[in-house]
Amino acid sequence: MKLHALILTVGFLYLLTAPSSLPAADNAAQARRDAIVVRAIERIDGYDYRSDPAVAEAVMRQIRRSEGTPEFMKLVKRFKPDGIESQLTVALVGDDRSAAVESAELLLELDAGRREIRNLLASPDQARGVIETLGLLGNGRANHFLSEVATDAERPYDQRRAAVAGLARTKDGEKRLIDLATEKTLVGDTVLIAGALLARSKDGGIRKAAANVLPQPAQKDSQPLPPIDELAKMTGDVAAGEKLFRGAGTCANCHIVNDYGKDVGPNLSEIGTKLSREAMLTAVLAPSAGISHNYENFSVLTEEGQVITGLKISQTDDEVVIRTADAINRKIPSEDVVTIKKSDKSIMPENLHHITGRQGLIDIVEYMMTLKKKG
Ligand code: HEC
Repeated sequence: MKLHALILTVGFLYLLTAPSSLPAADNAAQARRDAIVVRAIERIDGYDYRSDPAVAEAVMRQIRRSEGTPEFMKLVKRFKPDGIESQLTVALVGDDRSAAVESAELLLELDAGRREIRNLLASPDQARGVIETLGLLGNGRANHFLSEVATDAERPYDQRRAAVAGLARTKDGEKRLIDLATEKTLVGDTVLIAGALLARSKDGGIRKAAANVLPQPAQKDSQPLPPIDELAKMTGDVAAGEKLFRGAGTCANCHIVNDYGKDVGPNLSEIGTKLSREAMLTAVLAPSAGISHNYENFSVLTEEGQVITGLKISQTDDEVVIRTADAINRKIPSEDVVTIKKSDKSIMPENLHHITGRQGLIDIVEYMMTLKKKG
């Protein structure tokens, strides 16, 4: 084999060095020679084409010539030429979707390419598009990146949602979603959409596993609610929504909107700028799925056997202050405290949609969508 390679190499050198300064008319001849060289070395396993500069140049010329043809992808895969990743990256973020998917596939095979993908995923402008392309590709490597995105709480909802949708497209991705949900690393606000997508899986085992680890909310009559992406397509009545928000829905007991309401949960005056319809529905239907740091719910057991539940406003050596769901601050002297436990349930009640009904829920979301940043 070594000898074989040596003879070939000498042969190439002859081929390649003879016409050192080519007149333009000889370009076609050079292309032919390059093609022969490439075809020959493609067949030699383990031959390092980079070890011979003349051969390496022939390979690079041939790759450049084949750009835009199926041959290009084949050659890049075979020779993994240095520096090709920047060219592939341009195609990855370009308008041609098929070229983007092919480029993603190649980039994922190269160390430098995976670094490029990581950089793009860190760019707020590019991340979403790249996530969608990886979702279309759907192979193991792409799904690995999608799993990372789906478990990254620092990313905006739309990116994680795109990663979840991408994973749900392939069997391998579906399994990964089930695993992430089982180990509870899937970020809470994508739990409903993940469950909704997997409930449509062709695979009965996946559907069953999803029903277990990604339970979906039901209506008051325990009929299933439409899946979250379907709910997000429905439109409601803003005025009816505001009325419910302030009244029967009890939302204003905990949320301030434009100076109206009580200050237990976050101020929702600009929530329409922050959350998508789907994320808002999730916030109401699965409040415990994504409790933010500032709103962790605590239970304090007192000497008298009373349990006081709410947000921990402060804790000193002398006392702990808990704000209850009625927006009342309860001061409990430290000597009266038996235990303080962090709850994994939100202080925001579950099943508020049982009070509002399905259309009421849609109306409230319609109302919240109008709560936008002013000016
Ligand atoms: C008992 C208090 C309470 C009630 C009642 C309540 N919420 Fe909440 N809500 C919270 C808290 C606390 C949070 C913060 C995160 C968490 O714990 O889920 C929250 C979070 C939210 C969020 C997400 C906010 C964000 O910035 O991401 C939305 C949207 C929301 N609530 C809407 C509603 C609506 C609509 C209703 C009425 C149907 C309602 N809430 C009723 C306490 C409440």
